[in-house]
This record gives sequence, structure tokens and C-alpha cells, in this order.
Amino acid sequence: MTCLFRKMTMDDLEQVVAIDQVSFGLPWPPRSFYFELTDNPPSRCWVAEMDGRVVAMLVAWLIVDEIHIATFATHPDYRRQGIGGKLLHHTLRMAREEGAVTSFLEVRAGNEAALTMYRKFGYMESGLRKGYYSDNREDAVLMTLASPDYERLLLDGETDER
Ligand SMILES: CC(C)(COP(=O)(O)OP(=O)(O)OC[C@H]1O[C@@H](n2cnc3c(N)ncnc32)[C@H](O)[C@@H]1OP(=O)(O)O)[C@@H](O)C(=O)NCCC(=O)NCCS
Repeated sequence: MTCLFRKMTMDDLEQVVAIDQVSFGLPWPPRSFYFELTDNPPSRCWVAEMDGRVVAMLVAWLIVDEIHIATFATHPDYRRQGIGGKLLHHTLRMAREEGAVTSFLEVRAGNEAALTMYRKFGYMESGLRKGYYSDNREDAVLMTLASPDYERLLLDGETDER
């Protein structure tokens, strides 16, 4: 089935919020997605759509030459099908066209699925925020995809959109 990667719109909000709420212990308030779409110039909001349904979402902030992944999830029914990886790749490719040379994110230390995916993309662990998450005091791992790994990733067809 074909998967379309496109900019998030206001019409997607309900489905995006539903994916966020089912994916995270500390989901964003719906107004945060509204803010990202309407009032935050650095915001780059993307979705993956299949058969008219939003199946994954990603919000990133482009700050000078860095693309910071703020939130990112695939609907549970659609995981392990390559969709999240392709959405992240799409985000990095589009940010590169706007001048990004590095990418940065925070991930829970116990989130093996995400850690595995980011390592596969070439992100390296660059720090730790102890007890960062307020629900269970879990640590946040800081990860950076630095040049030249960023450029190398975009040249690598393996994780590219198919
Ligand atoms: C992390 C997440 C976005 C991955 O989305 P996805 O669409 O399932 O990802 P993909 O199918 O593209 O997987 C890409 C790679 O990530 C790794 N991966 C994904 N899920 C994994 C899991 N459960 N266990 C181990 N590795 C996993 C694998 O290396 C995978 O490649 P492979 O399937 O060829 O082995 C998804 O699991 C999710 O939404 N999790 C909850 C929200 C979350 O944790 N978001 C990240 C916050 S930092």
C-alpha cells in the first residue's frame, strides 16, 4: 500500500492527537499541536498517510542549522512496517534542503524501539538528563546526528522512502 509523506494540516489534528495519546505516557495537550501548526515559525510538522488515514506524525523544530525532533510516533497498528523510519528520513531530507546539517533529539532511556531506530540512522548518544521525565523520573538520552553522518544517511538508499 502506498504511503504518502506530507505536511500536517489542521484537518489532521484529531488523528495526530489520537496517535500521540496512544503512544506516550506524557502526551502533548492538543493545543500544543495547534500552536505548532499556527504560531511557531521553526516548526516543521509532517504526517504519513495511508488510504486517507494518518498513520504516523512528527513535529520538528528547525533552529538555524539543526533539526530538533520534538515528537514522533507511528500508530500502534502500523508499527514495524518501515513507516516511522521513512517519515524520519523524509523530515531529515526536507530539513537538509533548508540548511540543516545536524539533528538532535531526546529519548527515554528505556525506549528500546526508538533507541534502536535512531542508532540505525546514525544518531550517537551525546548526553543524559537524569530523571528528566516527570511521570516516572526516567532519564532522557540526548542523541545527535552530526555531519558527515547526516549527509551520508541521505545518500544511503536503504532507509530512503520506497
Ligand atoms: C519508535 C517508533 C516511532 C518507530 O516507528 P515504526 O513505524 O514502527 O518504525 P519502523 O517500522 O520504520 O522501524 C525502523 C527501525 O526501528 C527499529 N525498531 C522499530 N521498532 C522496534 C522495536 N519495537 N524493537 C526494536 N527495534 C525497533 C528497527 O531497527 C526498525 O527497522 P527494522 O524493522 O528493519 O528492524 C514507534 O515504535 C512508536 O511510535 N513508538 C512510540 C512513540 C515513540 O517512542 N516515539 C519516539 C519518541 S523519541
